[in-house]
Amino acid sequence: MSASPVTRRDALLGAGALAAFSCVKPAIAAEQGTLGALAASKGILFGASMSVRELDRPHGAKYAEMYAGEARIITSDIELKASVLRPERGVTNWEPADRFVAFAETHGMRTRGHTLIWNDDLPKWIGGLGQGELGHFMDTHIATVMRRYGKIDIWDVVNEPIAPWDHNEENLRGGAYLNALGEDYIARAFRTARAARASAKLVLNEAQMEPETERAHTFRTSFMALLKRMRDAGAPIDAIGFQAHLRAVDAFDFPAFAAYVSSVADLGYEIHITELDVNDSGVDGSIAERDAKVAKIYGAFLTAMLAVPAVRIVETWQLADATSWLRDPYVVKPKDGVRPDVRPLIYDDRFEKKPAWDAVARAFEAAPIR
Ligand code: G3I
Repeated sequence: MSASPVTRRDALLGAGALAAFSCVKPAIAAEQGTLGALAASKGILFGASMSVRELDRPHGAKYAEMYAGEARIITSDIELKASVLRPERGVTNWEPADRFVAFAETHGMRTRGHTLIWNDDLPKWIGGLGQGELGHFMDTHIATVMRRYGKIDIWDVVNEPIAPWDHNEENLRGGAYLNALGEDYIARAFRTARAARASAKLVLNEAQMEPETERAHTFRTSFMALLKRMRDAGAPIDAIGFQAHLRAVDAFDFPAFAAYVSSVADLGYEIHITELDVNDSGVDGSIAERDAKVAKIYGAFLTAMLAVPAVRIVETWQLADATSWLRDPYVVKPKDGVRPDVRPLIYDDRFEKKPAWDAVARAFEAAPIR
């Protein structure tokens, strides 16, 4: 297990903040700290995904200020995906990722590179490569990107390897890498990443496991089996990312899910919550009622998850409703039934704190120290 991601400065700031809050109500205490500092006081790194294209929009200054205030780590939203980095054969577009790394450096934040290998959102030309060419592309891509961004020390090396609806053996997600290389694409990607950057933290990131649904249980079983095969194959995986895109209409048993996460940690992995948000589509009532429901789910989820000592990083997917992927018509088609005014995050459309922010703060305050 690697060292705590929290610096001495964080710990001192957090300890001071907690001492100051010890005689006031938790909700008031929460308003006085930042989530980054509150989490750091418990040995947890807090942050969110961030997209540099938002800096160019009218809300850019507020967006930057919100991240500078709260986040100790940021994850690239699209900047490091093959669809952005490798739009066409022979063309490499480094500019958005360069800006992302520069933003983090300016604000003293750590960074997660998302994602090196994903069988989704791949430019067509990559899917058209032959078997040998694709293996060569994968190895070169991983090594080139990781070496260029030496300041990024946490990498989602492989994203979302499971997709039962693709009907492949072991419920693996279909796509160019699986088709060309079989399941070994996963272990090979991790070995290549380790060879490229020995000290980087290498993460396998997966979605859709959190609720009490048949699909989530299929994901849990398939993912655990995959991890055991990866361990047997010697894949150098350091941490597991649980995305946690929650839907308020689903049923949950978070303590039971935390027990599953503990069993994953017992295989020797650090645990990261990588893309937390709570989709309130299907929740009736006023905005205040919807926000209260979302806040309650954030609080219950994090309370259960932070009881697992291996959980070291908590990140949401964006920080504000205004920039959520659930509002992106390119990603969520109208037929998907997501309400247009969905409010899944901890800041609102005007980049102001919501009740969910307090719920997250209180969960950090109550969390055991790592
Ligand atoms: O490629 C097109 C381009 O041709 C077009 O001109 C442009 C117009 O906006 O869109 C481009 O597509 C972008 C696409 O990603 C391809 O990279 C979209 O703008 C962009 O919004 C889009 O969506 C991202 C999506 O992943 C696919 O990569 C979202 O911003 C991002 O939040 C979402 O994130 C995923 C995680 O990576 C994995 N887990 C789930 C999560 C939410 O879906």
